[in-house]
Amino acid sequence: MAHPQQLLPNLTFLDLRPPVTDAAREVAASLSAPSPSLDPKYFYDQRGSALFDAITRTPEYYPTRTEAALLTEHADAMAAQLPGELVIAEPGAGGCDKARLLLDRWRPSGYMPLEISRECLLGATRALAPRHPSVHFTAVCADYSQALSFPADDQGRPRLVFFPGSTIGNFEPVARADFLAGLRRLAGDDGFLLIGADLQKDPGRLNAAYNDAEGHTAAFNRNALHHLNRRLDCGFEPDAFEHLAFYNETAQRIEMHLECLRDQTVSVAGRRIALPTGTRIHTESSYKFTVEGFSRELVEAGFAPLSSWVDDEELFSIHLARAA
Ligand code: AVI
Repeated sequence: MAHPQQLLPNLTFLDLRPPVTDAAREVAASLSAPSPSLDPKYFYDQRGSALFDAITRTPEYYPTRTEAALLTEHADAMAAQLPGELVIAEPGAGGCDKARLLLDRWRPSGYMPLEISRECLLGATRALAPRHPSVHFTAVCADYSQALSFPADDQGRPRLVFFPGSTIGNFEPVARADFLAGLRRLAGDDGFLLIGADLQKDPGRLNAAYNDAEGHTAAFNRNALHHLNRRLDCGFEPDAFEHLAFYNETAQRIEMHLECLRDQTVSVAGRRIALPTGTRIHTESSYKFTVEGFSRELVEAGFAPLSSWVDDEELFSIHLARAA
């Protein structure tokens, strides 16, 4: 186990030194597959995170604001079903924005964000910890797989795993089942899960949310190529790709693609990969759920659903479950 560093009276930092992945090999393999794709993690460099923030403020992208309103409105009802002494563990916490809502209202004993970006984690927790002196912050720099096997709190306080944003929708079904089982391990046998899941709805509303008029989603999609050019010197021509986002009703997911508008060849990991005009690179899936279907997935992962909350327009759902 890494050596904990005390950064502030109520902030401990634990660096699990997430292993560096071989991005070049990974990208070369996924781009040269029969159906070319890129892992959505490549959206997120500094500019990608800023673009995602911009998306969340567009009138069309309802998930972030709908989830925040649900958390605010029902925070007391959620707390009433939880033990008084609680540590909130948040895998992939980013800038800890969503947890702020819960820290303000619940005053938990501890908050443990687990985040791969050291910079983001330290920036957010150094700013947040002094504002919540009664909460002990344990900032853990870890990738998802390290986060999900992080040992239970040795002081015996139950954990609430918090996984907001419907990020669960960005996993393919088999990976999603594995990830939910991992959240169950992280929660421990006396733990809980609070998770956001975007709902199936009128395809027009979904299509608009991923094709905002200001073009932030299109820029976010193309940013994966800018990011890879900078990081791996691939030679993509990002402006020669069209942003495509549409709801696939059969698969119940939004699909994002980048379609090549003219022939180009990129080089990755010493390989030349031809991308003829019309090639579609699948960059993201965002699955949409029903409350019943998502509750069933929670049960399959070893949770017992306690309550779920949905807004009046039935756009978004939040689920509270305990370890079964
Ligand atoms: C992060 N994730 C939940 C977003 C989503 O809606 O699937 C990512 C996103 N992609 C385009 N817009 C937002």
